[in-house]
Amino acid sequence: MTLTERSSASPTTPPMICSGAPLSKVEVDLLVVPWCEDESPQSVAGVDAATGGELGRALAAREFRACAYETFPAGVTEASWHARRVLFIGAGKSALFGGETVRKVATAAALWAKQRRIPRVGFVMRELPREAAAEMAQAIAEGLTLAEFDGGSYKTGANEAPAVPAWTVVAAGGEDVASLVRAAVARGWLLGDCSNLSRALANEPGNTLTPREFARRASVIAGEAGVAVDVLDEERMAQLGMGLLLGVSRGSTEPARLMVFRYDPPSAPATPVLGLVGKGVTFDSGGISLKPADGMDRMKDDMAGGAAVACAMRAIALLKAPIRVIGIVPTTENMPGGKAVKPGDVLKSASGKTVEVINTDAEGRLILGDGLWYAQQLGATHLVDVATLTGAIVVALGKGTSGLFGTPNEWVEQVRRVANRAGDRVWPLPMVEEYRDQLKSEIADMTNTGGRPAGAITAALFLQEFTGGLPWVHLDVAGTAWAEEAKPYLPKGPSGVAVRTLAELAFSFEV
Ligand code: BES
Ligand code: MN
Ligand code: ZN
Repeated sequence: MTLTERSSASPTTPPMICSGAPLSKVEVDLLVVPWCEDESPQSVAGVDAATGGELGRALAAREFRACAYETFPAGVTEASWHARRVLFIGAGKSALFGGETVRKVATAAALWAKQRRIPRVGFVMRELPREAAAEMAQAIAEGLTLAEFDGGSYKTGANEAPAVPAWTVVAAGGEDVASLVRAAVARGWLLGDCSNLSRALANEPGNTLTPREFARRASVIAGEAGVAVDVLDEERMAQLGMGLLLGVSRGSTEPARLMVFRYDPPSAPATPVLGLVGKGVTFDSGGISLKPADGMDRMKDDMAGGAAVACAMRAIALLKAPIRVIGIVPTTENMPGGKAVKPGDVLKSASGKTVEVINTDAEGRLILGDGLWYAQQLGATHLVDVATLTGAIVVALGKGTSGLFGTPNEWVEQVRRVANRAGDRVWPLPMVEEYRDQLKSEIADMTNTGGRPAGAITAALFLQEFTGGLPWVHLDVAGTAWAEEAKPYLPKGPSGVAVRTLAELAFSFEV
């Protein structure tokens, strides 16, 4: 579905059912049963018999070993069953089976079903302790929904993507469990859907998603959920003195924008106020410090952090978080036009600090500097920024883990817990005070780059200068925002990183 179609869709009715009916009675074409390596064919009552003993035979013959994401489809021979097929999907060792695994298994199974154009699919949530049921159901719903994303939005005719199946989460524990987890399924669907909206934005080419268009679409996404939206133009940025953001945008003929989202539930306490700040570079050519051609096309997703903030704001409002949240997304192109910022130029930030630009390709930290400052101005008490900030984080942590920085440690740990539960793997890196020397400038308060050593850390140290001492976390998602290689649970392309973390964070405060 395109974003335009989406904006008229009712945002609160999940197209996902949760059923407590016996497996034989669930009205679907395919039932998906996650299966752990160390299980016996009898551990889900009735399925082995329903498949005429196919499951037991395949397990005994080691044809199906239930390694993670391994698929084993079997026909249903039992006439009284509604579903005509069962897909067993490997889920690894049962001791490690939890929300994290089941989310990925659900996506893998859903992609399998979507590829085969199966209209109605039920995913079986195995019996488990009642306390664990809601988290598991939510993760399943998230995983199924994540499979709906289609990155080929500009494909025409026969290349068009298959229709998305209708999903049912089937609680093997029966109607008792189903009614217990219905809200969790709806929540999971919504969070998955908001992740997909973020992926669609990150996938959009730079020629269609200019800063103005990004601001327009993000305003619809958050605005229709009841979030108050204000989009600042360059004149208002100038009034606020945002020389860093304006400095980056000078090289482009497209004007910059600054999105301001506010979620202010009347019943929420005055504090805390969560301030989310996302990097919104709609195309990063590097500017005068031009990037090499190889892989430059990827730099259309340099606004993935900003998209995550806008889409998390939508989720936060629709799920009615109990605290106030501000979202800030500075958005611009980074281009080498005739008026572009040049190496050696000095820019003045809205906070008053001056920056000597050594490399115009270190633009993200510049625009975030003004963004972080503005979040404070608007009353944020706790800051989180999300940015495709450095190539260095990809070297340090690879493509599957985002860099986590910040201070104080309690706040960093809070974000870490939430992120890992939400399925956004993060790992902390140290804010080494000594490395701040790498940002020393002869002419200004600091430079915008600290050289090659510890490039992700010096970028974080730069951002810290604009946090006013507030609790602050920085997520460097340069490695995780885009999958270069397809995984069974994640196709090539935008991942929707950080949407669920940011949204869930608004529910993690004790208020
Ligand atoms: N948007 C890039 C970072 C990036 C790199 C994202 C690879 C995704 C994949 C960022 O603006 C950038 O260019 N960073 C420079 C900083 C350097 C000049 C200090 C980098 O990492 O090379
Ligand atoms: Mn850059
Ligand atoms: Zn960039």
